[in-house]
Amino acid sequence: MKPLSLSIAVKSDSDRNDQCQRLADELGVALVTEEGSYPYLLVYSEDGLSIQQTGKGAAGPVRVDFSAGATNHRRKHGGRELIVKAVAGNQHQPPSVLDATAGLGRDSFVLASRGYSLTMCERSPVVAAVLKDGLDRARRSGDSELEEIAKRMIFIQGNTLDYLQRLDEIDNPDVIVIDPMFPESKKSALVKKEMRTFHHIVGADSDSEQLLEQALMKARHRVVVKRPKKADYLAGLKPNFAVEGKAIRFDIYSLRAFGKK
Ligand SMILES: C[S@@+](CC[C@H](N)C(=O)[O-])C[C@H]1O[C@@H](n2cnc3c(N)ncnc32)[C@H](O)[C@@H]1O
Repeated sequence: MKPLSLSIAVKSDSDRNDQCQRLADELGVALVTEEGSYPYLLVYSEDGLSIQQTGKGAAGPVRVDFSAGATNHRRKHGGRELIVKAVAGNQHQPPSVLDATAGLGRDSFVLASRGYSLTMCERSPVVAAVLKDGLDRARRSGDSELEEIAKRMIFIQGNTLDYLQRLDEIDNPDVIVIDPMFPESKKSALVKKEMRTFHHIVGADSDSEQLLEQALMKARHRVVVKRPKKADYLAGLKPNFAVEGKAIRFDIYSLRAFGKK
């Protein structure tokens, strides 16, 4: 599926005109007062920036809010996080992590709230705008713990393949996490509508095999690939082991034990 980059516009808002114009210019999309024929709009409100589907039966807005919802609940109430186990095993010292497929930053946030410092890359300009907006709000939230967590999340907009190619060896991350888009589920009626919006905006990740290949050359200790539980291995490459949950699985490619240079 192709990204619908031309099917999105920024909705103007008289209270935030400069902000709306800046975003429209940055993304090279129209600034509109009416939804017209655009299936998606980028909308600023007091809750931040969101992607809003238009028309009858539209899905709810897609935005990043680290101070609410399931992610925040997990931050406040803890619990066993599979991704933490997948990334660090029994290692106590948090390794440096590159989130190669940042998306809406939920996985990175889980790691950052456990003390990890991360670099996150996202190439979709629309998703990047929404994520940056969520990070900015978290950094100015007035909740000192949330502000500290968000400061540990360094965001880079662009293709991770380019980022990795430019990276000096000394800056290679301990762990690289990859969570590629998976083809839209056949049971699409059951998939949350908001997830479908995300799928339509981002499209399929056709180069995720290449990403794994590069990541295996650059990570110091391990590469972690997030997959639906029943999915094939990415690039057909068998991992050393996996950490499994109810619906997802983390495939772990071990390169070097933690503690070894
Ligand atoms: C399934 S989502 C990741 C969701 C994320 N783990 C989260 O917790 O919100 C995949 C994201 O990776 C991005 N992506 C895929 N390949 C990429 C690449 N080579 N460089 C940068 N971003 C990439 C896509 O644009 C998409 O937003």
